[in-house]
Amino acid sequence: MATEFTAQAYSAVELIRIKRDGGPLDDAQITWLIEAYTDGHVADEQMSAMAMAILFRGLDDRELATWTQAMIDTGVRLDFSGLNRPTSDKHSTGGVGDKITLPLAPLVAACGVAVPQLSGRGLGHTGGTLDKMESIPGWRASLNNDEMLRQLDEVGAVICAAGDGLARADKKLYALRDVTGTVEAIPLIASSIMSKKIAEGTGALVLDVKVGSGAFMKDLADARELAHRMVALGKAADVKTVALLTDMSTPLGLTAGNALEVKESVEVLAGGGPADVVELTLALATEMLRAAGSEADPEKALKDGSAMDVWQRMVRAQGGDPDAELPVARHTDDVLAESDGILTTLDAMAVGVAAWRLGAGRARKEDPVQAGAGIVMHAKPGDRVSKGQPLLTLHTDTPDAFERAREALAGGIEIGEQAAERSPLLIDRID
Ligand code: URA
Repeated sequence: MATEFTAQAYSAVELIRIKRDGGPLDDAQITWLIEAYTDGHVADEQMSAMAMAILFRGLDDRELATWTQAMIDTGVRLDFSGLNRPTSDKHSTGGVGDKITLPLAPLVAACGVAVPQLSGRGLGHTGGTLDKMESIPGWRASLNNDEMLRQLDEVGAVICAAGDGLARADKKLYALRDVTGTVEAIPLIASSIMSKKIAEGTGALVLDVKVGSGAFMKDLADARELAHRMVALGKAADVKTVALLTDMSTPLGLTAGNALEVKESVEVLAGGGPADVVELTLALATEMLRAAGSEADPEKALKDGSAMDVWQRMVRAQGGDPDAELPVARHTDDVLAESDGILTTLDAMAVGVAAWRLGAGRARKEDPVQAGAGIVMHAKPGDRVSKGQPLLTLHTDTPDAFERAREALAGGIEIGEQAAERSPLLIDRID
């Protein structure tokens, strides 16, 4: 926890001017700024000006390391060193249909490495892991530290809400960035993600940095820079950190929406599921295991049912019933192919926004989500389709939403004569 703020050591205006004019901030200035902002001694308007200055001027490696450490020091740090096995965690920068955490956490745990997944709820077009898990009847997201540690010891995997105590500065700063057009600043994204992950206390961390229309980073060069900067922060904090750059130009798997994605995740744990979800789950599991020093084979744990066994125990440990029927939306509507040919585009952003409008996501953090809402995809880019065949099925409890969902999809679906060149799912690895 940060030491109590005592005196006004610097002028916030002076520090904003230094960054605005491209100068570096020294370590004491950065530490003071983060602490003073968290404690309310630096005003929101001053921190927004600083965030905008950083968006344009950046932070060098030393500044970023100090900024991240200062954010960590505003909250608690968890300690998993007393556990009976090593820990490894994964963070995805967010994408459409990205349900990978659900099969991944029990899979890695089944291979003997503990997975402390402190997750969030979704905002905007990408769904949140907790929203997906909360569609399982009875499952609860909030655990205290003792419950979390016990579950890690006994089951090996936990997916739960990150408490308010981790990197307190981030909560305030992220909300401010959200309303000031400064979310996109790469050093601010890197410090936001890594301050929480380092404070969480994991021994190893695998970052899934998404690239493409449905991701934060639309551009490969930006995604690469973000990955490099996060890997450097992790290593400097003694967390074994690796990043995979992965494609998010089209949704992952064949579902986007909370209960729909849980169902697909369970299919993966049962040894089936869409090929891209299986490929990414295995790639990330392999990285998480290697980073934690394990040579275990995740493919075997998927095939022999041990990952499914951990999933069921993990869900039950948090009050959920893994065998219960999942919620189903009351209304469905098909989107049909308009011509014969090859599906060349199924745009991740278009599908994400459509699912969100159907009720799978929220516009404001206090909004509820519909557990059954979302989209089932019947074809993926590269597939041959026939005129009139259903390409997507839209699911919602609020049928008024169909029209707005269809509007979001306009331009996001293209059928051509020939298969278009597509990015591989696994684009690069950075360590
Ligand atoms: N996720 C975070 O936690 N922080 C960011 O700044 C962006 C994505």
